[in-house]
Amino acid sequence: MSLALKSFHLFHSIMAAWQNCDVYCRDSLITSHFCPGRSESLRNPWIDHVVLWCCKHVSALDGIYVEAGVFTGQTARIIQGELGDASQLWLLDSWNGPDIGQNHAAGATITADWNAVFDSVTAKFSCDERVKLVRGYVHATIESVPNQPVRFLHLDLNSAEPERLVLDTLWPRMVRGGVVLHDDYGHRGFEAQRKMIDAHCTLNNIMPLVMPTGQALFIKP
Ligand SMILES: C[S@@+](CC[C@H](N)C(=O)[O-])C[C@H]1O[C@@H](n2cnc3c(N)ncnc32)[C@H](O)[C@@H]1O
Repeated sequence: MSLALKSFHLFHSIMAAWQNCDVYCRDSLITSHFCPGRSESLRNPWIDHVVLWCCKHVSALDGIYVEAGVFTGQTARIIQGELGDASQLWLLDSWNGPDIGQNHAAGATITADWNAVFDSVTAKFSCDERVKLVRGYVHATIESVPNQPVRFLHLDLNSAEPERLVLDTLWPRMVRGGVVLHDDYGHRGFEAQRKMIDAHCTLNNIMPLVMPTGQALFIKP
């Protein structure tokens, strides 16, 4: 077989695999599960797939779910869909962007009408008593999270220092098998967060699973 033909076959099989996986993710995994957030965005469905996997993984464990960095609540919607009757989801966000003076990830600052975003998130979750919204910077609000076991922590503040604060506070409360999912570990411009996660994992002798979505996850031993 000529080199050109081999290259063509290779390209074709990669494209076929990619397309099959993409179709599988969109049609089977995402849309067939409770996942209303999907209709709100065109973001990479693999990111949602990983969130969903984490929720399924922790479903038989005890403890609350926490998301630090909520914005419009797209990820929170996915988590909400996987909550059991007795579990709670605590959502922490300033709904005012990053804290002044914090080393925010390059290019990651969101410009928004924050009161309108907060109102829409409040409306989105208002009929679900299991979902608790806490508005404010995490250094001032982290103590509002009840001192209970934690089964899932989604970290997505785009800032290393507040993420470290949340992780250091909640890690001792995480149950064995509980999952920490970091949204931006692998992205360019997020090196400070990556270093923070690496330091945490080294200290605890665990290895994060790094994914092509840019996310990383690790499990409480
Ligand atoms: C990338 S967005 C979160 C996206 C969300 N996880 C999702 O899946 O759609 C980051 C959020 O972190 C919030 N934030 C940044 N720094 C914060 C801090 N120090 N305390 C509380 N919230 C903060 C911002 O207001 C913003 O809404």
